[in-house]
Amino acid sequence: MWDYTDKVMDLFYNPKNQGMLEDSHEPGIKITVGEVGSIACGDALRLHLKVEEETEKILDARYQTFGCTSAIASSEALVDLIKGFTLDEALKVSNKDIANYLGGLPQAKMHCSVMGQEALEAAIYNYRGIAHDVHEDDDEGALVCTCFGISDAKIRRVIVENNLTTAEEVTNYVKAGGGCGSCLATIDDIIAAVYKESAVPVTVSSKKNTALLQVEKPLTPVQKIALIQKVLDEEVRPVLIADGGDVELYDVEGEHVKVLLQGACGSCSASTATLKIAIESRLRDRVSKDLVVEAVELSLL
Ligand code: FES
Repeated sequence: MWDYTDKVMDLFYNPKNQGMLEDSHEPGIKITVGEVGSIACGDALRLHLKVEEETEKILDARYQTFGCTSAIASSEALVDLIKGFTLDEALKVSNKDIANYLGGLPQAKMHCSVMGQEALEAAIYNYRGIAHDVHEDDDEGALVCTCFGISDAKIRRVIVENNLTTAEEVTNYVKAGGGCGSCLATIDDIIAAVYKESAVPVTVSSKKNTALLQVEKPLTPVQKIALIQKVLDEEVRPVLIADGGDVELYDVEGEHVKVLLQGACGSCSASTATLKIAIESRLRDRVSKDLVVEAVELSLL
């Protein structure tokens, strides 16, 4: 499990801003929504803003998040930060502001703060009728990480905004490189190019930062299976079922968790691969950092 701050744990266990805002019929009030990620394919955040049109002030905000502890805490932090801001003020909120509000996030969880920033931008751009994609530029850059659909432009942005110097850090912030790993060398090249363009020397390395991994008293096999089942039942399945899918625990062998993805979740190979990573992330977060989730296909049983 991860070493979260007290603030993260408090927001996770006592969320105050979950839910949605219905379309307002009040004159001068507009509801706008920003969405990033996909519930069918992993982490997802849908942010609702209630905006006073005359002042562009954010009167209220709510979120719907499918993700780990840090994703929910980051969403709570985002809402706390932007309530009362004008849209222009809110656009200045960065993923670093979200992480700082939480007293910090484990490096491997920084992508949750990035997701919050992107949902906020999406909501504001929607309000203003600007093209829906949060980072229009992302679509113009070459696709670098096919596992997570991350472009060269998005990787460059996160490197510059957060002073990232390793491929591992890029993975922590936007997930690129966290799947098959075949794009890690390209990410190294992008980092080198960014710093070359800015004339700042940097040593590029994609080696793993094991200092962040936490050591826990091991669970017994029975405890581990029970906890895996509990997390799947209480935290994963309700969200998947609401989105037309489901997951069933098939078997646990050591650190390998075999699951059956069902409904919409098992309908395409790309969705299955990404969802596997999302479930794995949740189980690593809540049960053990060493777990590996394998999606078992019915035809192979
Ligand atoms: S292509 Fe980036 S992790 Fe697979």
